[in-house]
Amino acid sequence: MQVHATIAGLRAARAAVSRGQPVAVVPTMGNLHAGHIALMHQAREHADCVIATIFVNRLQFRPGEDFEKYPRTFAADCAQLEAAGVDHLFAPNEAEMYPQPQTYYVEPPPEQVNILDGEFRPGHFRGMATVVLKLLQITQPDVALFGKKDYQQLMVIRNMVADFNLPVQVIGGETVRADDGLALSSRNGYLSAAERAEAPRLFQVLTKVAAAVRAGNLDSRQLEQEAMAELRAHGWLPEYVALRKKLDLQFASAHESGLVVLAAARLGGTRLIDNLEV
Ligand code: PAJ
Repeated sequence: MQVHATIAGLRAARAAVSRGQPVAVVPTMGNLHAGHIALMHQAREHADCVIATIFVNRLQFRPGEDFEKYPRTFAADCAQLEAAGVDHLFAPNEAEMYPQPQTYYVEPPPEQVNILDGEFRPGHFRGMATVVLKLLQITQPDVALFGKKDYQQLMVIRNMVADFNLPVQVIGGETVRADDGLALSSRNGYLSAAERAEAPRLFQVLTKVAAAVRAGNLDSRQLEQEAMAELRAHGWLPEYVALRKKLDLQFASAHESGLVVLAAARLGGTRLIDNLEV
């Protein structure tokens, strides 16, 4: 695997890929786990050349969030990418990505980002979309892979790519989970042993809501409230549990098809998110 710290270096490597050979990119913030690596393998199914990126993007963190303490594990990440057969790693520093403060931003439409995670993390999707546009411009992939674990992020990226006519196919990867159901996340590392034991409840309540909807319970508001109450009863601070339309994450009633149930909740100092397609 070739490691590139500069845009010029990455671009030169990209230019050396033969015409007609598909290129895939998998953007990450590092601290890689099996969820990221599954995306690398999926990328390989679509491309002769697989590029991973590692960049902890300050623009998508709010003051008081975990930008400073976000785990940076570069050597271990490189070993995992190498083992997964990734061809190129683009790992710029902040000065390379933001030589001066970013002045132009991708501004997602309010109805897509004032809801769910965007409601609780104002500005997050603006910063995320801005860096993803930069990464796509730098790497020029045919295919880009993102996880369904971050469902709203995937929706924002799909819509940005469509709206700006970016010549890239966006592919969503299934959420990779631990044996007890907890979705793998770099933030799981913040959990104490007791919190880690409690954490699978988030997926359990999503599973219950999805099962109730499938069984014909049409009162989605009641299901959401019950799920939040169960989390609260076990020491969580839920932000939302919401049954939404998969396509645009807008409100849905339980008799519709194409639904997803999404949740965000704090356990101790750690904010966890998860979702499940119904
Ligand atoms: P990061 O949290 O590192 O995630 C990188 C990619 O891995 C994202 O597409 C995310 O959805 C996916 N992913 C994370 N956990 C997963 C899991 N358990 N199963 C499957 N896929 C999983 O998401 C970001 O970084 C950033 O916002 C980024 C897109 C890189 C822009 O900065």
